[in-house]
Amino acid sequence: MHIFVLIVLTFILVVDALPGKLFVFDNEKTLSPSLDRDFPDPSIVKDSDGKWYAFATTDGRRNVQVATAPAARGPWTLLENVDALPDTGRWTDGQNTWAPDVRRLADGSFVLYYSGQLANDSARHCVGVATSAAAVGPYRPRDRPLACPLAAGGAIDPAGFVDGPSGRRYVVYKVDGNSLGRGGACNNGVQPIVPTPLLLQELAADGVAALGDPVQLLDRVDADGPLVEAPNLVRTAGGAYVLLFSSGCWSTPDYKINYAIAWDVMGPYARSDVPLLQTGDFGLTAPGGATSVDDAAGTVVFHADCEQGRCMFQARVAVVGENVIVSR
Ligand SMILES: *[C@@H]1O[C@H](CO)[C@@H](O)[C@H](O)[C@H]1NC(C)=O
Repeated sequence: MHIFVLIVLTFILVVDALPGKLFVFDNEKTLSPSLDRDFPDPSIVKDSDGKWYAFATTDGRRNVQVATAPAARGPWTLLENVDALPDTGRWTDGQNTWAPDVRRLADGSFVLYYSGQLANDSARHCVGVATSAAAVGPYRPRDRPLACPLAAGGAIDPAGFVDGPSGRRYVVYKVDGNSLGRGGACNNGVQPIVPTPLLLQELAADGVAALGDPVQLLDRVDADGPLVEAPNLVRTAGGAYVLLFSSGCWSTPDYKINYAIAWDVMGPYARSDVPLLQTGDFGLTAPGGATSVDDAAGTVVFHADCEQGRCMFQARVAVVGENVIVSR
């Protein structure tokens, strides 16, 4: 009994002594893909009948790939003949649809946020929104993008979020500044480096209508390399807001998952000293695009390099104070 208390106390003291530090459990073990195919920027959601669906960036044949599983942890099967977003909206050219994020609304219907390539400028993406009664889709897009800051480079990588205590709904996304960059890694390795801020936009309960102006949560610093992107917000039971994001260039082993913590949804967000997941952890290469799971708290899905391209992986995360702990 006394030894047990001592161990717990030691653990808490160690955690307290290292604010912002990361603890990776079982890091000597490797993680295997939960779906063995190119399935980048994944998000997963539970349907009302208990089935789970996963969504990913286009594979060239489908705008939004879909897989299904009987449980959050799988096993996952690709739905070969399904495109969750057959029509990407009049404002898009229907090409290069990226980073879909699906969330269930309070009325039981579903909303899909995505990055659509502009009909009037194929060098730019903006954030679109589409809705469906069923999790699997097909999602019906709105005629206009939800966020389209073209002078700053457009917008990509949306993720929905509901703030538990207030019940307010939001979407976080990345201003795609590097689409205006001067070349180099991810088109932003050459001076002057362009900002790639992560913004928070409040939404109405329908998950579609924007309320007021977006607020900036974080921007890249030199240690991030060319960019920060793929923001995702989650609130812990302890009341901390954890902003997951990726930095580095996705096509290099420098790509990694980072996080920052705040005690108010608007910030300020304090960046962790160390990444959440980086190349080498669990045998992964270039992990990125981490997304929280609303009906499986403590689970994140993300992608990392694999033989087929970028496969979907899953891990468990726990937050202790200001520390985020990752395990298999
Ligand atoms: C191009 O399309 C976007 C998205 O619909 C729109 O915001 C923008 O004003 C358009 N630009 C021009 C020059 O029409």
